[in-house]
Formats: sequence, C-alpha cells, structure tokens
Amino acid sequence: MNKAKHIAIIMDGNGRWAEIQGKKRVKGHEAGAKVVKQITTYCSANKDIERLTLYAFSTENWKRPRLEVEFLMKLLENYLKNELATYVANNVHFEPIGDIKAFSKSLQQTIQDVKEKTAHCDGLIQSLALNYGAQDEILRALNKIKNSENDITEATLLDALDCKHEVDLLIRTGGDHRLSNFLLWQSAYAELFFVDTLWPDFTTNDLENIIIKFTKIERRFGGLK
Ligand code: IPE
Ligand code: IPE
Ligand code: MG
Repeated sequence: MNKAKHIAIIMDGNGRWAEIQGKKRVKGHEAGAKVVKQITTYCSANKDIERLTLYAFSTENWKRPRLEVEFLMKLLENYLKNELATYVANNVHFEPIGDIKAFSKSLQQTIQDVKEKTAHCDGLIQSLALNYGAQDEILRALNKIKNSENDITEATLLDALDCKHEVDLLIRTGGDHRLSNFLLWQSAYAELFFVDTLWPDFTTNDLENIIIKFTKIERRFGGLK
C-alpha cells in the first residue's frame, strides 16, 4: 500500500464559495483559513503523512484587485500569529516556500517568527506556498547554481529548489483540472486528484477518502509491476 508521505493541495474555490452565498469573496478566504487549520491538524495526527504543502498565494495572484490582495496578506499574518500555539501544540514545523521578499517587512517577520518558534517541532512539516510559482522557483534555483563549475544534475537542482521533496499525492479542490504553476518539478510522479468541492467545504473526511483511494493505486514510476 502506498503511503502519502507528502500531500500537496491547491486550495481553490474560496471566492466562488462566498459568491454563491451572496457574500464578498474575502469571506471565502476567511472560511478557507479555518479549513487550513482542520486539515493541518488532521495530517499532524496521521503518522504516515510527513509533509503537507498548501498553495496559499501564487506569483500570479498579485493580479487580483488590490483590496483582495491586501485582505489575503492581513489574513495570512493574523492566521500565523493566532495559530502559532496550535502549531507548537500539534508538534507541527512551519516551513514556508516561495519568494517572501515581496511581502511587507511585518509579514516577513511574522513568517520568520513562526518558522523559528516551530523549528524544534519534529512532527508534520507544514509548508505554506507564499508568493510561490513553480517557474519562479526553478528560475531562482538555476540562478543560485549557474556559476558552479560542475554540470547541473537532478540532485543539485532539487537541492536549490524551495521544496526539495517529491509529492506523492496532489489534490486540487474547486473543480478545475490544472496545476496553476504549483510544484511542477516535485509533482513529476504525483498522483493527481481533482475534486469539485470548493475549499471552504472540504473536510477531513474528504481528505481521508482521497488517501484511501491513493493507497490502492499502482504507482509504477515508468517501470513495470
Ligand atoms: C483560492 O481560492 C485562494 C487563493 C487563490 C488565494 P480563489 O480565491 O481562487 O477562489 P475562486 O477560484 O475564485 O473561487
Ligand atoms: C491557484 O488558484 C492558486 C492558489 C490556490 C493559491 P488560482 O485561483 O489562483 O488559479 P487559477 O487562476 O484558477 O489558475
Ligand atoms: Mg481560484
């Protein structure tokens, strides 16, 4: 049986969830943040799961209206501040990926703070992808290693990426069947699950059902079984 050691999720559908109820899009982001907490807690209690990487803000999401972007930044900052105690209580190590230099100094400081204050936690590693785009990640990695005398290998490139761990199970909520620039290198052999459920409606039960299906898939990695 496969183990879903690294689960990655494209948390999509917050805006539509709110709009369906006649609410502002940002209400969907608030509801989505609660689901981040539930799913992280669930994963922290499942010893097979080592890593949970959640797509929270893409390099393309800056294209959204200024007020929505500002709301997302504030929500992220509040989330990290409020949830620090839960991270520690659940022994979850927070390890952001993405280029956070584009964020305000105060948000960068909060991110750094939660990273440091959970550094001793040796349970689940939760990565939030923040100002993350896989193409940007690969370019930044190549620029880091381009002056090396040796040829670039899979190992040296991987080591220069923000996320150095292959994805076993990649889930996208919200009904669309695309990767939207998420973990392109690391998902080369990931099992992909696309579900129609909008992120604020996604439950630990939904995740459990996907994991059960995942454990039964024959993963061949190009070989034969
Ligand atoms: C995902 O939900 C959250 C972020 C991208 C920050 P969306 O905001 O994309 O919600 P929809 O897809 O418009 O419904
Ligand atoms: C992907 O969702 C990014 C995040 C979930 C953070 P988007 O809503 O931004 O993706 P597209 O625009 O539908 O591809
Ligand atoms: Mg979306």
